Amino acid sequence: MSGTLRTVVLVSGDGSNLQAILAHCVTGGLGIRVVGVISDRPGVRALDRASQAGVPALTVDYAAAGSRPAFSAWLAAALSRLNPDLVVLAGFMRILDTALVEQYRGRMLNVHPSLLPKFPGLHTYRRALEAGEREHGATVHFVIPDLDAGPGILQYRVAIHGGDTEVSLRERVRAGEHVIYPRALAWIAAGRASLKDGAVWLDGAPLAQPVVVDEVTS
Ligand code: GAR
Repeated sequence: MSGTLRTVVLVSGDGSNLQAILAHCVTGGLGIRVVGVISDRPGVRALDRASQAGVPALTVDYAAAGSRPAFSAWLAAALSRLNPDLVVLAGFMRILDTALVEQYRGRMLNVHPSLLPKFPGLHTYRRALEAGEREHGATVHFVIPDLDAGPGILQYRVAIHGGDTEVSLRERVRAGEHVIYPRALAWIAAGRASLKDGAVWLDGAPLAQPVVVDEVTS
């Protein structure tokens, strides 16, 4: 997969990752073009960020859909109208139907706030602190039907400090997401990274582990 990839970003909330991706598209020529942003909730900040960037933004309202199958069908239809090469989950807090994930296998990405396979699911900062972890971070991975289990491309790793709280940890990890997500997308658009036979390939070789970017502290 290479060239300028038609990309749809799925969001549920603030959209800071969306903003980082859009900023890199403007300044860095990521090799992708965001052709649409879809939220599962109305009125979220991510939709405003999309509109301000001149990107078509729409809501596929989970609550209005009334059921998970109805939501999935609506989302699938909205996506196929946008005809994406890539589907980028950026703070999208819904579990997607297996059929939809399979349709975009190798072309659907997610960012998750933990060093997967540690802490899939919710409340990762709290759980990492409660477990006495010494490091935490975020992972950009290809999406497979199992939740937060797809092969990782890039991870951002931070040390946990004595005084860290959920808020302080989230702030540092999220800043790192804004680094690794655009980088992963650029690798995919350049044809450097892809999903083959269930593994991430980077520059012609399978990755045993995601590439790790450490927080730079001074
Ligand atoms: C991000 O930190 C992302 O890792 C997390 O939601 C946040 C959204 O922030 N995603 C998940 O927890 C998905 N399992 P944003 O809306 O500011 O980009």
